[in-house]
Amino acid sequence: MVQIAPSILSANFAKLADEIQRVEVAGANMIHLDIMDGHFVPNITFGPPIVASIRKTTSLPLDVHLMIEDPDAYIHSFVQAGANWISVHIETCKHLNGTLQLIKSHAVKAGVVLNPATPLSLLEEVLKLVDHVLIMSVNPGFGGQEFIPSTFEKVERLRKIIQHRGLPVKIEVDGGIGLDNICDLMRRGAEILVIGSQIFGTADPAATVRKIINLANRCFGEIQA
Ligand code: DX5
Ligand code: ZN
Repeated sequence: MVQIAPSILSANFAKLADEIQRVEVAGANMIHLDIMDGHFVPNITFGPPIVASIRKTTSLPLDVHLMIEDPDAYIHSFVQAGANWISVHIETCKHLNGTLQLIKSHAVKAGVVLNPATPLSLLEEVLKLVDHVLIMSVNPGFGGQEFIPSTFEKVERLRKIIQHRGLPVKIEVDGGIGLDNICDLMRRGAEILVIGSQIFGTADPAATVRKIINLANRCFGEIQA
């Protein structure tokens, strides 16, 4: 089954504990945290101290998406703050093998992120080292952007590569996801869906999470049939 990872980027930051509580009770599987530095992406969010505060509000795994230059310098701090999954952009890593080893040395899940224009071929040597690959379905930096349709085909190709190599790597997709494209993404092989504005931008985020889970269950049944 697919896992739902609400991204708090579109939540009310003054009421984060409440916002997270609501989606947790509704059945979300993890909380996705977007870390932006104003350099790699044209937006700034938050760092380890806020992650440490969030850690105290939920028992769900924290899925930390680093959109920052020089991620190596901050990995230890994010682990200390309570990150359970850490994903680094392949575009930011000069020594990706070393970065992945560093993440794994902290016994957290390690993932690589690919921007929409970054080819799957760059995964060749690192696929066996990661727990997950995060495919961006928008250009990173902001919530509420439109889903890039070529992502469907990219996810499908990645799933085939992973299957062919017999690896236990999970496929996560992030950006522009909502009720209209969840089933198609699942059909192509997406296993973790990051959803921001189409959860926290709705009047009742908890009800929306439940709606998403119901839809995903139905799609799962159809795919199995
Ligand atoms: C974008 C972030 C996403 C963002 C997704 O750079 O990585 O996690 O929150 O937001 P939506 O679901 O609104 O596209
Ligand atoms: Zn993200």
